[in-house]
Amino acid sequence: MGIEVVVEGLSKSFGRQTIWQDVSLTLPAGEVSVMLGPSGTGKTVFLKSLIGLIKPERGRVMINGVDMVSSSERRLHEIRKLFGIMFQDGALFGSLNLYENIAFPLREHTKKKESEIRRIVLEKMDMVGLAGAEGKLPGEISGGMRKRAGLARALVLDPEILLVDEPDSGLDPVRTAYLSQLLIDLNAQIDATMLIVTHNIDIASTVPDNMGMLFRRGLVTFGPREVLLTSEEPVVFQFLRGRRAGPIGMSEEKDAATLAMEQAQGYPDEEDDGPFKIPRQLRPSPGMPPRKGAERRRERVLGMLHQLPPPAQQAILENMNAEAQRPVGVAPELPQRSAAKGSYGPAPAPGHGPAAGPVPSPRPAPGPRLLPPDPPPGPPPAGPSGPSGPSGPPPGEGGRW
Ligand SMILES: Nc1ncnc2c1ncn2[C@@H]1O[C@H](COP(=O)(O)OP(=O)(O)O)[C@@H](O)[C@H]1O
Ligand SMILES: [Mg+2]
Repeated sequence: MGIEVVVEGLSKSFGRQTIWQDVSLTLPAGEVSVMLGPSGTGKTVFLKSLIGLIKPERGRVMINGVDMVSSSERRLHEIRKLFGIMFQDGALFGSLNLYENIAFPLREHTKKKESEIRRIVLEKMDMVGLAGAEGKLPGEISGGMRKRAGLARALVLDPEILLVDEPDSGLDPVRTAYLSQLLIDLNAQIDATMLIVTHNIDIASTVPDNMGMLFRRGLVTFGPREVLLTSEEPVVFQFLRGRRAGPIGMSEEKDAATLAMEQAQGYPDEEDDGPFKIPRQLRPSPGMPPRKGAERRRERVLGMLHQLPPPAQQAILENMNAEAQRPVGVAPELPQRSAAKGSYGPAPAPGHGPAAGPVPSPRPAPGPRLLPPDPPPGPPPAGPSGPSGPSGPPPGEGGRW
């Protein structure tokens, strides 16, 4: 069900260049988190620090009781097997076809028989919508397919923690939207703790449960997505809206003089268009199991609600109410949930509501699977029969939001 990652007081510099200082956050088990930040703020350095590829000078990264900063290489080697990582540049071997690229970690880290390797590789390729593309070379396929091949490779060792570095770079908005849905579907199937690094606002505002931002050598904030999306912090405000006015400059931070001039003159074409409208979070595609991480997140966030800034509290409650009223989608035989208004008083008991009536046992017919049109035609990827973890309960009651 994914493993919690606890980061405490982490600081990293290269020579005299401080990258970030005193970063503390927790990636909750099985939930999806996003780290935002302008280019060059050390997002990739942060990801690499989580798996112990880069050594911060101070702080800890605790995973299953092991500190990724100070542990021996032998220990790290063990813990790294829990990770899947999709690097920013894809890191595919240009001379190997997709099958061999994706099989690579299995050959490196396991002694599995070829038949087993084949089964796993084809299964993961299917999960990311690449069935049939085994023989292609990375140079022969689109950027979107390369990203998905990188994802499939990150999945072959059945990771408990999945790190994804800028999955959107170089993709058009439509491919990015498909990729966002794929990330949510993967989370539903494997229930891994996920951290996605991006500066894409569409991904950031629709995919994660939690969100943080790196800027000015530190963590601006980290918490439930609504905290950042309602933040009035100047750098967050500017970033979410893609403005010129604000602390982020053309290639780096603005100096005080530029900021003062900007405040005096402003950018007349950048009018204040009010609060950032928080889009709904994506849900798993029809036919996918419900996201267990989303259920846990709901309980967790309700439990910490009173500690959050009022605008975030309000956004969380509004979203939860909207979700409760949102039809589940695929299963016409599902009873319509009574859309009780204001049904979020005290947190409901963890887990599940009463098993309302006869829960339809057959899985809903796999609806149109939301996958990009660019892969070669093939059967739609398998539904909930996800390879990792127990096959979840049938989609239905628990699966919302
Ligand atoms: N191995 C390294 N040695 C020295 N400097 C590095 C190294 N890796 C990254 N940096 C520097 O750290 C800063 C942050 O880099 P990076 O994490 O790649 O930013 P981001 O991913 O947010 O765009 C950059 O200034 C980069 O030059
Ligand atoms: Mg980077």
